[in-house]
Amino acid sequence: MVKKYSYGKVFVTDAVIENIMCSDERVEYFDIQDNKDGYELTRTMHTNDVVYGLGQSVRGINKRGWIYRMNNTDDPVHSEDKTSLYGSHGFAVFDGETDKFGVFIDYPGQYTFDIGYSDIDEMKIIIPNDTNDKKPEFDVYIIIGDSVNDIVKQFRRIIGKSYIPPRWAFGYGQSRWSYQDEAAVREVIKSHRDNNIPLDSVYLDIDYMDNFKDFTVSEEKFPDFKEFVDEVKSENVHLVPIIDAGIKIEKGYKIYDEGIQNGYFCKDENGKEYEVTVWPGLTHLPDFLNPDAGKWFGRQYKTLIDDGIDGFWNDMNEPAIFNMDEKDYDSFYHETPEGRVRHSDVHNLYGYNMTRAAGEAFDKLSPDTRLLLFSRSSYIGMHRYGGMWMGDNMSWWSHLLLNLKMLPSLNMCGFMYTGADIGGFGGNVTEELLLRWMALGVFTPLMRNHSALGTRRQEVYRYKNIDAFRNIITLRYALLPYIYSEYMKAVINDDMLFKPLGFVYSEDAAAKRVEDQLLLGESIMIAPIYTQNAVGRYVYLPEKMKLIRFRGANEYSCEILEKGHHYIDVSTDEVPVFLRYDRMLILGNGACSENEIDYQNLRAITFSDEVIKYMYYNDDGYTKDINNKNNIRELLSSDMEE
Ligand code: GLC
Repeated sequence: MVKKYSYGKVFVTDAVIENIMCSDERVEYFDIQDNKDGYELTRTMHTNDVVYGLGQSVRGINKRGWIYRMNNTDDPVHSEDKTSLYGSHGFAVFDGETDKFGVFIDYPGQYTFDIGYSDIDEMKIIIPNDTNDKKPEFDVYIIIGDSVNDIVKQFRRIIGKSYIPPRWAFGYGQSRWSYQDEAAVREVIKSHRDNNIPLDSVYLDIDYMDNFKDFTVSEEKFPDFKEFVDEVKSENVHLVPIIDAGIKIEKGYKIYDEGIQNGYFCKDENGKEYEVTVWPGLTHLPDFLNPDAGKWFGRQYKTLIDDGIDGFWNDMNEPAIFNMDEKDYDSFYHETPEGRVRHSDVHNLYGYNMTRAAGEAFDKLSPDTRLLLFSRSSYIGMHRYGGMWMGDNMSWWSHLLLNLKMLPSLNMCGFMYTGADIGGFGGNVTEELLLRWMALGVFTPLMRNHSALGTRRQEVYRYKNIDAFRNIITLRYALLPYIYSEYMKAVINDDMLFKPLGFVYSEDAAAKRVEDQLLLGESIMIAPIYTQNAVGRYVYLPEKMKLIRFRGANEYSCEILEKGHHYIDVSTDEVPVFLRYDRMLILGNGACSENEIDYQNLRAITFSDEVIKYMYYNDDGYTKDINNKNNIRELLSSDMEE
């Protein structure tokens, strides 16, 4: 059951798309204080209560013990002491000794979840007055269910279906800030192909543009872009260009001129276009909260789509502003259907609406074919239009673990197509870190190696253990039928792809405390290595499982492990997978690109004494006929070869 309580009239965010009647009762589970500074919702936590959720944020799967500010922020060095990241996802699930419920605060301005920070036994949601010192207007949703799973599913149902990318976007992607020109891109592709390392996409970072102007391509670096896109496609590689939020101020630049003519940029209080500095230098910010401006911006993607591009990443859309003054976000305004609003009061919606503008345009520009789209900044609701990557992380072991922890929290909030910059964006990676990170990356829907300008090169073919990298990435292609099948079923059923152990083994107190293992779909558990120089790790098995040590798509060894704690050895060229009892892990044969995968002839590793079945989802990988009954097939273990 979902209950909605309104405090005033919230700015329409479209985070929730189901029509829910407002309750005029008291908000359940919380004490509410209405004070001169805003509202505070307070709830006592008992020793064993666990709080899940909050999407993209620092720290644990259990969010207890820190303070999280809903305030989309471009913070590449997100260490443990940070309180905000790129997205704001204000949905938490309280798994308590006495109560279980979900809470979502739909409020696009800044607010805070203080989960045992100020008072170790209290969870507090603090929603301050807006920038005019007026009472904040927001909606509270309380979701009541039998289990944490059930609560998440109900929440996912009211926020609408998650975005589905084309299937090739589950292949391996290589990115770098920046592959400067045709020659650089060709070299990346050739080096993968020559070394038999699978590859499906190469990302174009800001330098492909003419002076960082969105929707332009430098003619000097890419003299015939359309032809180049074709050339690359003939090698089974998709080019994925970046699109930044800001538009360069330059007379004669079509997008700038049109934006000015139509009043599509954010303006200051006197109605003058607001100026900020981002990559292109002086820049205006498109007013994505003005639907006409959004439609106009969305149409611009057509130029690149016409060149054959079928995937994009939207960046700098918090919006990021260089040398930001504290007052910047207070100083510009949006022209919205609800009138003029100050940016700070709706700040967390900016990246969402940029991506929504693109996603809605794609429905028109490419009505039959899915396009790849993901964003850096987000708010709940954006999950319907695109995926998101986890932003600028660092080549740190702690960020490998953070990558794992964010996966289920993001899934709870609808963000299914996600992944981190494998190997880390900032700082210098080591070969060992890259191998271990890749061994987690093989499981994430977005599997992209990306790194920053000036850092150590991170393409896997540059390293000594090239065989190990090849084997791990090839394993991804063997796992792809399973990952895609589980992804699609999860989206269709409003389920999570990655679950904390406590979601499945809810009666197992030890399982509930595990912060470094996850269930992936219905069949397997993952437990990556995230410590430097480790030769293995401790794992907790909530039931008897089959440990599969993969050393590539076709090479693996199996061992049955009993329920309980174990130390397992895992060398840097291995990927451990734990198969649950009575479950099946389907496997393809690996391939060098997604479209070479044979989705019909699958093998399976099973763990059961009986004949068991697996519901296998597959489709053509690019059209939108998701719910076609023929997409689901029952596979019997007795028919499958190992
Ligand atoms: C931002 C993005 C990063 C990109 C860089 C240059 O930092 O998060 O991925 O490489 O900008 O465009």
